[in-house]
Formats: sequence, structure tokens, C-alpha cells
Amino acid sequence: MFKLTDFDYHNKTVFLRADLNSPVKNGKIISDARFRGVLPTILYLLEHGAKVVVSTHQSKPYNEDYITTEQHAEILSNLLGQEVEYVEDIFGKYARDKIRALKSGEIIMLENLRFAAEEVKYKPLEDCERTYFVRKLVPLIDYVVNDAFAASHRSQPSLVGFARLKPMIMGFLMEKEIKALKKAYESDERPKIYVLGGAKVGDSLQVAENVLTQGKADLILTGGLVGQIFTLAKGFDLGDANIEFLEKKGLIELVDWAERLLDMFYTLIRTPVDFAINYRGERFEIDLLSDEKKFFDEYAIMDIGSRTVEKYAQILKEASIIVANGPMGIFEVEEFAKGTVGVFRAIGKSGAFSIIGGGHSIASIYKYNIQGISHISTGGGAMLNFFGGKGLPVLEALKISYEIFKDKI
Ligand code: 3PG
Repeated sequence: MFKLTDFDYHNKTVFLRADLNSPVKNGKIISDARFRGVLPTILYLLEHGAKVVVSTHQSKPYNEDYITTEQHAEILSNLLGQEVEYVEDIFGKYARDKIRALKSGEIIMLENLRFAAEEVKYKPLEDCERTYFVRKLVPLIDYVVNDAFAASHRSQPSLVGFARLKPMIMGFLMEKEIKALKKAYESDERPKIYVLGGAKVGDSLQVAENVLTQGKADLILTGGLVGQIFTLAKGFDLGDANIEFLEKKGLIELVDWAERLLDMFYTLIRTPVDFAINYRGERFEIDLLSDEKKFFDEYAIMDIGSRTVEKYAQILKEASIIVANGPMGIFEVEEFAKGTVGVFRAIGKSGAFSIIGGGHSIASIYKYNIQGISHISTGGGAMLNFFGGKGLPVLEALKISYEIFKDKI
């Protein structure tokens, strides 16, 4: 695959696909983690005289956090100490004129890519290549730099569509992410522990299945909704309120899959021994074997309990490799961040080579100043796809581009 340092960018127009999709509260972006991740690539391009066209998606149509990229341009301007002009267009005449007018060392930010219909579907590379988005922009571009690791599990025009038409190059972040993930997956050091939390239950089950059947994991610790599904699969009742919630989310049907995994690997999959609920505005912990379990009928589980955190922390101490994805509970609410912060801190202290990812949840690592993590991945779904043994379309596209252009540069 092409590396960023393989090319001379002076006076060249570079289409930089970043993933700056960020958490938003009351219309405001609340974490700049993904911006900081892509900064080294942008600085390198600007310092080497490129004309940089940055682009990103932000959420999906109709979601509350589906906003324009005006704030993204502003945040990037502040971090760079240089104006990043927000261009309220993607591939129309206005955007194309702005791209043509760029001078060496200048940078603009296109509108939220998912405002364009073509960018919302997942299509094979050949279809992405035929989109108006690609056809309109390709004559203006010299190189494509892809630093959108967090979206590398998506096959969409901006992510894969240019691969056969222009040299597509890994950004520094993409390179760093792939290197770290490969190291964790392929390393023979033991014990190797996976911590699976969050709400992407299907993807997490896929990871558990892949790493356990491939002999790539010695133990799996679960939390978040993943932990709840495995707890149900073990035959524990989590009460009406929680079961209704999981049903509404379409997750209950995954209990069967979790059961099948437990049939094969029961001793290797650990589930929480206690959970925390929000009882009259306060954190209240309930042991899974106690009579207080009746509270689960009325109160939603918000976090794993302290006993679980302690148990997991003891196990993590001995690990050589740790891969963690997703939070243990609703970490956005301070009282229920205890599980996530406790487990992530234990990972940081363990001395293991550790990766933590999970899209927006990595914000908690910065918020609570958790130290000692070897690699904080910007990827949530992308990371799960990688460890789930599924290919990443962006990596495939980078390889295709390399094969086509390696003898032509
Ligand atoms: C993410 O946050 O996981 C990436 O930005 C991908 O976003 P998506 O799931 O909306 O494609």
C-alpha cells in the first residue's frame, strides 16, 4: 500500500478522506479526538505544499447528530492555527471552483459527504467509481489520501471510489491503526484478552466467534449490552424493563448466537456478576444472585457493578495483549461511568500491549485522563470488523490502487 511519504505533494491537489464523525450534544461537537488523530497527516500535506481538500461524513440522515461540517472546519482551523474554509457543497460547481482556486499550502473542508445520496449506500467499488461524486471530482484531483480508518468497513464513493482512478495513499493515522491492530491480532504473546462492551452486539459476537475459533483469544470479558446478551444466554433473567429494551433494539434475537458461543467456549466467556441501575436518581448496585434482582423489572441496567470491575481488573493484570471495544455502561452519565473507567484504568495499568476503541466511547479515555493505553483506536465498527475477521473495503481499495499505480509513479 502507498504511504504518505511516497509522494511529492508540492502544488498537487489532494483529496483527503478523513473520518471526523464526532459525538454531538445540543448541536455542538463535544470531542475533538478524531480531529487530533488526523492532524499529523494534514500537517504533513500542508508542510509539503499540497492543496488539501478535506472531507468527512457526520452521522446519517435524520439522526440528531447529522449536522453540517461548519463546526468541523472551525475545530480544524483552531487546531491547525490556519483557516480551513468551510465549503457548503460537495461536488457541485461551487465546490469544484473552490478546489480549482486552492493554492499550495491551503486547505478547505467540503460539506458533510452524506448530504449526497450516493454516499449513503454501501456499494461495491465498481459502482462507487461510477458515481457523479467521483466523476465530477476526479479531474481536479492528483492524489487521494485515505485516513478514515474509522470508516474503513464502509464501501462508499468517497472511501473506495477513486482507488482505480488515482493513487490512493494511506494517511499516517490509517497506517498507525492498521499496524497496531495487526500486532494485537497476530501476536503470539499470551494471555490475550478481549473486552467487549457497547451496543454493537452483533459485531461483538462476530469478534468473539472469530477470535475464539481461530485461537486468537484466551478469555473474553463482556459488559455493556454485549454483557447483557451473554448474561441472558447463560439463563439469567434481567427483568422486564431490560428485556423490553433489548427487544426494542432488535438485540434479543442475538441471544441464540450468544448461546451457541457459550456451548463451545463457556469457560472462556465471562459475564458481569453485578449490575448498576438508576434507582431514584442514584447508582444502585445489584448482585445477579440476590433477591434485589426484582428491581430489573422496573429499572434499566446502566452499568456493570463494582464486583465485576474488581474481578475483571484482577484478570486484566495478568494479560499480555488486551483488545477492548465499547463501554461497560452509560459512561456519559458520571455515576454510570464507573464500570467503563474502572475497566479501562485496569487496562492502562496492566502493562499489556493494549488497544481500546469504540467510536465515540474513546471520549471517556480523555475525559477521565486514563493513561497507559498502547493504542487508542479511532475505530468502532471498523475495529470490530477487523477483529471479526471480515475484510475492510478501504484496505482492499488501498491494495488495488497500489497494484495499479505502483509502476506508474
Ligand atoms: C463510526 O463512528 O463508526 C464511523 O464514523 C462510521 O460511521 P457509520 O457507522 O455511520 O458509517
